Amino acid sequence: MLNPFDIIIFGGGGDLALRKLLPAMYRAYQEGNLPQGTRILPSVRSAEQRDEYIETAHTALKEHLGQGEYNNKDWQAFANYLVPVLINVTEADEHWDELKTILSEHDEDKSRVFYLSLPPAVYGTCCEILSTKGLITDTSRVVVEKPIGYCGESAEQINGKIAQYFNEEQVFRIDHYLGKETVQNLMALRFSNSVFENLWDAKTIDNIQISISETVGLETRAGFYDKAGALRDMIQNHLLQLLCLVAMESPHKLNANSIRTEKLKVLEALRPLVAEQVDDNIVRGQYVPGDLGGKIVPGYLEELADGPSNTETFVVIRAHIDNWRWAGVPFYLRTGKRMKKRCAEIVVEYKPVSHNVYDDSVGPIQPNRLVIRLQPEESIQLTLMSKRLDNLEMQLEPVTLNIELSESYSSGFHSDAYKRLMLDAAANNPALFIHRDEVRQAWQWIDPIIERWQEKGAPALYRAGTWGPVDADELLAETNHRWFNTG
Ligand code: BG6
Repeated sequence: MLNPFDIIIFGGGGDLALRKLLPAMYRAYQEGNLPQGTRILPSVRSAEQRDEYIETAHTALKEHLGQGEYNNKDWQAFANYLVPVLINVTEADEHWDELKTILSEHDEDKSRVFYLSLPPAVYGTCCEILSTKGLITDTSRVVVEKPIGYCGESAEQINGKIAQYFNEEQVFRIDHYLGKETVQNLMALRFSNSVFENLWDAKTIDNIQISISETVGLETRAGFYDKAGALRDMIQNHLLQLLCLVAMESPHKLNANSIRTEKLKVLEALRPLVAEQVDDNIVRGQYVPGDLGGKIVPGYLEELADGPSNTETFVVIRAHIDNWRWAGVPFYLRTGKRMKKRCAEIVVEYKPVSHNVYDDSVGPIQPNRLVIRLQPEESIQLTLMSKRLDNLEMQLEPVTLNIELSESYSSGFHSDAYKRLMLDAAANNPALFIHRDEVRQAWQWIDPIIERWQEKGAPALYRAGTWGPVDADELLAETNHRWFNTG
């Protein structure tokens, strides 16, 4: 069992804290994973907000917890863990001394987790004040959110600033996709099943599609999103992390160093896309109004209501990993907002049989396909060719083995990426966090794409409620592939 810890959530009144972090801690409490003596210290910017915080948290939990999760008894007990504090994160004033006094009430060895639920631009200042006010102990850790920077250079600056006050071992960079139980299951599938261990390379696999489609649009994040776009918001982190888990070699051990080393090798082996290679291998799109589940939703520019914009809300990349395992296998990375369905999945399409003993009369032989669905519900499907058994003739047809993992477990456990990651940070377990080198390497691959887009072209338009622009289909058709939209 975890030792009691103090988690200080800077930006405690913000959207992330109220929508994700507090529910995550509440669930940890309900499941018996929040040790007695733990304190959650959300920071707010005014005395009034501090005095009202317990009520603010109460309202947020009622709103953001799932059905059946909230109950008044658990809330009353959970509220005892909350210690709201007044802090202006950019001013080194007396409030920091008050925070220091509160933290010092407990043993020096008690872990302190400083969760920066803040804009990256103030990470550096916040860390500096933590240091000058003497709040960083040997057992302190800092948790930072993506996006780290807007390009390689700004990411280096942010990471460099944090590194002035925290050792790399104390820095926990979150990519919440890594905290999803389903994403961890990817490693379990790959590394504990000899069928996959042995059928996982360019000799057997034809192409791999990694896709995260969303139905939401801009929500309340227009300011952030229009500067970022889908490439920075999703590909630089979530999609590349999934790619790493799909493509990496088996780590020597399941510890943070070995896993990160293998992931880094994948990022290093990604074939660079520069200048016209960007035009040839990437499609970027932006949604226009369309019918999403029977309702007409506005286009990106209408939602933005702030003049013209070339920001992409959809990206497809044909990527290659130049190593012995993946030589010649295209990896299609796709993400988009306002798409037809919300779904995250990995589709592995195997090569055709090397010698076909059947003639055309049996029907077409489709390649085997493995579909690992990560959300909304987790499943694994394997499509195989089989003889029709209701017929004397030899007729082949595809059949699908389908494992609905979400149905295999009893309720009581709520899979929540933030809960898992916050508890891991408290337990000093960095395996599911991103190393600085991974951030650097990922940006190195992304930067030339951004540069090219700044020089040339505009996004292709797609109707909301579809699977993206037709150019995305054409990109795959160039290599005789097509999307498998099973979501
Ligand atoms: C976030 C992005 O990191 O991930 C959002 O900033 C996106 O734009 C979200 O909507 C998707 O996460 P999930 O867990 O809902 O698939």
